Amino acid sequence: MSVTIKNSMEIKAMRRSNRLLQDVFSGLREMIRPGVSTWEINEAGEKLIRDLGGVPNFLNYSGYPASVCTSVNEEVVHGIPSRERILREGDIISLDAGLIYDGYHSDAARTYAVGRISKEAQDLIDVTRQSFFEGIRYARAGLHLNDICTAIGAYAEDRGYGVIRDLCGHGIGREMHEDPQIPNFAQKTRGIRLQPGMTLAIEPMISTGSYDVEWLDDGWTVVTKDRSLAAHYENTILITDGEPEILTLSPDE
Ligand code: MF3
Ligand code: CO
Repeated sequence: MSVTIKNSMEIKAMRRSNRLLQDVFSGLREMIRPGVSTWEINEAGEKLIRDLGGVPNFLNYSGYPASVCTSVNEEVVHGIPSRERILREGDIISLDAGLIYDGYHSDAARTYAVGRISKEAQDLIDVTRQSFFEGIRYARAGLHLNDICTAIGAYAEDRGYGVIRDLCGHGIGREMHEDPQIPNFAQKTRGIRLQPGMTLAIEPMISTGSYDVEWLDDGWTVVTKDRSLAAHYENTILITDGEPEILTLSPDE
């Protein structure tokens, strides 16, 4: 599949779908505290999505069994919600969720603190978030995809963090995963030229240790090989004639 350019109708639909996802995250953020299970978070997330008129796009995607990915501490992404996984003070949890509204997909992720967390963990969350913003300084028509990738990776690596290499961001629209793939580190080629109307899910995944990851036996959960902490920050953005629009960022963030 090639990279899709959205027309003004489609851009409106993408704004709507991704705006609804902001509300899902506002609701989920409020639930994060010691004692809550990742199962409860997923249940609440699915209800929020459906109450807003959306359809969860992760549920049954390649067999994934939930609507919200819940990844705790050394889990990088795609953690599977479980009644047995109870959040504890000091944990960090990455939530990744998306929905389909009127045929258009949204996708975002945040890492939250559970109660009071270590400075190491908070710094990781902050660097991961900031690496996204460093990247999207280059999310402008006429620049190339690798300008974004390079900026994300350099920001995190210069600060001594591991930049996960086995997973990447992606185009998004009528499908959750469209071209192009968007790695979070410098590539050997400059990649596609960015154009107005492209909608991209940019999602740095960063660890306090090595970038090496492995998959747990559940076939989904990605963990750091050295079991160092990992964080994830993702927004769906729109390339415009000027500044990129961050479709999944709510004003209070
Ligand atoms: N949201 C993920 C991404 O950023 C995809 C989730 S995989 C799923 O690409 F299986 F959980 F849906
Ligand atoms: Co994504």
